[in-house]
Amino acid sequence: MVKLILVAGARPNFMKIAPLMHALKDHKSIQPILVHTGQHYDVKMSGQFFEELNIPNPDINLEVGSASHAVQTARIMEGFEQVCLKENPDYVLVVGDVNSTAACTLVASKLGIKTIHYEAGLRSNDRTMPEEINRLVTDAISDVFITTSIDADENLLHEGIPVEKIHMLGNLMIDSLVAQLPKAKATKLNFKLLNRDKPIELGKDFQSGQYGVLTFHRPGNVDEKESLTKLVHLWGEISEQIPLVFPVHPRTYKNILQFGLQSVIESYPKLFFIEPLGYLQFIHLVSNSSFALTDSGGIQEETTYLNIPCLTVRPNTERPVTVWEGSNKLIKTEEIVHEVQLIIQGKGKHGTIPKYWDGQSAERIINMIEGISK
Ligand code: UD1
Repeated sequence: MVKLILVAGARPNFMKIAPLMHALKDHKSIQPILVHTGQHYDVKMSGQFFEELNIPNPDINLEVGSASHAVQTARIMEGFEQVCLKENPDYVLVVGDVNSTAACTLVASKLGIKTIHYEAGLRSNDRTMPEEINRLVTDAISDVFITTSIDADENLLHEGIPVEKIHMLGNLMIDSLVAQLPKAKATKLNFKLLNRDKPIELGKDFQSGQYGVLTFHRPGNVDEKESLTKLVHLWGEISEQIPLVFPVHPRTYKNILQFGLQSVIESYPKLFFIEPLGYLQFIHLVSNSSFALTDSGGIQEETTYLNIPCLTVRPNTERPVTVWEGSNKLIKTEEIVHEVQLIIQGKGKHGTIPKYWDGQSAERIINMIEGISK
């Protein structure tokens, strides 16, 4: 029996881990152990994803919580070392690019445990992003590299990773999307405005196919007063042309309150700030929208699969396949209003679905792990 520890820590990890846990249920030769680092801990950022994606309760929760990067990473390392020493797994599998990803890879590789990185090789080439540092650290010491697109393979080869260690097997986030889309579309959109007890209804306050979904949480966009103030005013301006629904990330909301921007938001009746949504309501919201305006990584992929125009407000992306093949466009803050106008006129970007983004990635990944562990 191969003992495999799977690590999940933050919200975008959960939809990548879910299809693997399902494929490993009652598996004959691989015994999964699920470790939650507790990097995200709120019901809205963690618990409801486990429930809706039907992920079994973690075998171990390190409960590290929020802290500075160094403290959070250190706490994860300390806790995860004990887990590895106790369980003595054959492999540790990490996903994505969050602090939990880098921390657990570092611990396992120093204990001589083989590490597998799913979503290896993505590069924004922007070292001001904490995620880019996590990607570089993780890929520098991993043993097995699972990629989601060919640009990632090229990046790894360029960094000297031998070709036989790289496996392009598709996109687990799309596995979750394919599996849950029918259920998501049947889930009622039911939310209230953040900090105001006002219910917002689809069909009344905003109409199917005639609204945009907003998500912003990158430190580069939301941590400075000047850039966040500029963005809030732009969102308001756009909402006067087409309603915007924003399930707000806690990081962003904390800053909105701190910079005194709540009154600006309240002055725009069609700028709907709501609590973070669970997976099913969020996917329903996106799949029904006319566009997404975002700085997230995962949403660039989900909109590419759904072929919905996505405007990514960042100078770079680690997911260029969503631009050259999909419906994603990288834009500057000053271009937001013009780009949204193009979409309203029916001139939004559409594309095709990248190779292996087909709902079968977990099966390919488990087959590969079985193969290498023989
Ligand atoms: C983290 C990831 C980022 C990912 C994002 C998705 C890193 C370096 N960053 O960023 O790559 O895109 O998750 O959400 O790993 N908070 C809560 N409840 C929670 C978790 C956090 O309220 O359950 C608040 C805390 O005040 C915390 C802040 O959100 O300080 C930011 O959380 P943190 O985990 O530090 O980073 P994210 O911005 O979420």
